[in-house]
Amino acid sequence: MEEKKRIFSGVQPSGTITLGNYIGAIKNWVDLQNDYECIFAMMDMHTITVRQTPAELRKRTLELMALYIACGIDPEKSTLFIQSHNSAHAELAWVLNCYTYMGELQRMTQFKDKSSRHADNINAGLFTYPVLMASDILLYQTELVPVGKDQMQHIEICRDVAQRFNALYGDVFKIPEGLLVKSGAKIASLQEPTKKMSKSDPNPKGYISMMDDFNVMAKKIKSAVTDSEGVIEYRPDDEAKAGINNLLSIMAVMTDSTPEAVAREFSGQGYGTFKSAVAEAVVEGIKPIRAEYDRIIADKAYLQDIYKRGAESAARIANRTLKKVYKKVGFIVD
Ligand code: TRP
Repeated sequence: MEEKKRIFSGVQPSGTITLGNYIGAIKNWVDLQNDYECIFAMMDMHTITVRQTPAELRKRTLELMALYIACGIDPEKSTLFIQSHNSAHAELAWVLNCYTYMGELQRMTQFKDKSSRHADNINAGLFTYPVLMASDILLYQTELVPVGKDQMQHIEICRDVAQRFNALYGDVFKIPEGLLVKSGAKIASLQEPTKKMSKSDPNPKGYISMMDDFNVMAKKIKSAVTDSEGVIEYRPDDEAKAGINNLLSIMAVMTDSTPEAVAREFSGQGYGTFKSAVAEAVVEGIKPIRAEYDRIIADKAYLQDIYKRGAESAARIANRTLKKVYKKVGFIVD
């Protein structure tokens, strides 16, 4: 029997999960579970590179996990765990810190970005964030890392560090590849449709949180920015059409269709009618997920059982890699 390829990915429990995250990431992962051996983690160690309220972080970590499961990540198929529960991540990150250059880290756009946004807290963890992320991936001998475009630079540095280490010590790490999510699944802000939908948008009307009240969701879609042309057409390369393109994409994903087909279906109709239909499709699509979520988040014992078992199986795999690394660099391991 052919072995399944291994996938690793993670999300930071740093804020609310948006419809964009669901469509662009989580939904894809659900589909990947059957064809790959998947490991998904809540990246709480990455989250503290930006100051957090401890009680909030704890709460969000569990909420994120419950939402993953509610969206269809099956803990019997995939490994689901919390990063800080597996100390191998911190341990490998230390070693790889000694194989990563300052210059490499200084070039990272996310570091430049975040240090300008958090100028009062440019800490060393923020700087070495990519090394911890490389450790996450390399510990599991990962083949594919499903990420958004903004994370590709992190995959590149991970590959560079792994190749450098392998060149010195032999084939210790599998060299992973980034798996870009389908471009059609990129969801834009409802208020500035040329920008990505983001939970850090200061205007909450720009994004739909998976936790929004259903009426709020519908209202946000109905007040989405469009254009004055008044024509429902899918023109993905036309910036003036960005708002309508985005709503067509959202509708397509929620109804298992394509933006082209949705455009044909609504051609000749007014924006108001179309927006109402999109709002309904989004609400109807999210309703069952929310019902599942409410059930799961209330069951702390169930969640605990999953993250404990997840951490155990994650540690089993990770410790094999860590031990190899320790041996190679000259630590006494047995
Ligand atoms: N940096 C990723 C993000 O912000 C989260 C992350 C941390 C991650 N470690 C990872 C993603 C390992 C994939 C693999 O989205």
